[in-house]
Amino acid sequence: MTTGIDSLLNLDEVRGAAKRRLPRFLFDFIEGGVDGELCLRRNRAAFSNWTVLPRYLVDVSARSQSVQVFGREYAAPIGISPMGLAGLARPQADLMFAAAAAKRNIPYIMSSASNASIEKAARVAGSNVWFQVYPTTDERISQDMVRRAVDAGVTTLVVTIDVPVHANRERNRRNGFGRPLRLTPRIVFDALLHPNWLAGFVSTRGIPMMENWMPYAPPGASQAVVSDLYGSLTPAPAVQWQTLEELRRIWPHTLVVKGVLNPADAVQCASLGADGMIISNHGGRQLDMAPSPLQVLPAIRSAVGPAMTLMVDSGVRRGSDVILASALGATLALVGRPMLYGAAVHGEEGVLKVIDIMRREIDLTMGQAGICALNQLDGRSILGPEFGRALT
Ligand SMILES: Cc1cc2nc3c(=O)[nH]c(=O)nc-3n(C[C@H](O)[C@H](O)[C@H](O)COP(=O)(O)O)c2cc1C
Repeated sequence: MTTGIDSLLNLDEVRGAAKRRLPRFLFDFIEGGVDGELCLRRNRAAFSNWTVLPRYLVDVSARSQSVQVFGREYAAPIGISPMGLAGLARPQADLMFAAAAAKRNIPYIMSSASNASIEKAARVAGSNVWFQVYPTTDERISQDMVRRAVDAGVTTLVVTIDVPVHANRERNRRNGFGRPLRLTPRIVFDALLHPNWLAGFVSTRGIPMMENWMPYAPPGASQAVVSDLYGSLTPAPAVQWQTLEELRRIWPHTLVVKGVLNPADAVQCASLGADGMIISNHGGRQLDMAPSPLQVLPAIRSAVGPAMTLMVDSGVRRGSDVILASALGATLALVGRPMLYGAAVHGEEGVLKVIDIMRREIDLTMGQAGICALNQLDGRSILGPEFGRALT
């Protein structure tokens, strides 16, 4: 049974509805973290270590949460994180992200491991779509993807650097879920127990293709062949900074590096010409002992100075999380899993619902913080983990 969209009050309830709808192997693929999932929990805990210091008796009747990012205005300080294989949760989920992002005027970062192609997403959402790539073992393919993004009219390229090696995701191993997806008896049984989810795949004739990789496979290649090709090209453990320098050289527009946690890496990104960074631990999916973005954001900000555009993701679930990130100097806070859960449960309407919940919570928190615009937030708006700090 699908939970009615109007009854969903927060992102945790959207997650619960998706858990009921999706087969276990798929929910676990989306939800799971690396190793013992300590990082996954740390991401949420990090937010609860901070508090917003309210300011009352100021006029907060005209609040706007719009932000300027790379010279363009977006309607809210949130965006949709790149998520590969989103089409497994709902056919065409990638294009639903694109459409919802365009309707609400927020950025959607399409993963190169998506099911729909960047060309299709750019047609749906224009400059609301950013494109994320991983370094690959064959530089010609990375460079061709960059060329395709230019041709499609994309103006922001995101290079994810935090997957030098595969992560140990034990939920996937336990469930027998790997790439390419093989229909083991266990997975088939799991799928049959979730007929609403299954119906979508019957209607679209099966497991979706990774469309961005099709041009590099033989003509007419099956989804398994294309998926194997992707698996043979990523991760690329030998890649070093020269690869980023090369992408910087050939990409003519805004370049963002995703997965930065170490201030020394942030300085290096800045020095080779990155325009922005996403401080992220990949939603707790790569290194279990990684810090949460909130822990390192102040140090990264002081390392790269006030002009660099910093964004965060990993564990953002409430509007007040976005306000905290904003006060610590992040222009955007990206949301991953909840967007995919929204798409899984209610398609594009579900993604819009997640965006709208976040927007409402951001708006109400702004009212409590005594601000009408996000640039009024700074370190004085919040109290950090060093609880006893004197209020001056
Ligand atoms: C199912 C799934 C697939 C992902 N695929 C990618 C990807 O292809 N590229 C990438 O840079 N990050 C990927 N990520 C990481 C997200 O972009 C993001 O960093 C993370 O999900 C944010 O944390 P949150 O889910 O707690 O909001 C993926 C995350 C999930 C859950």
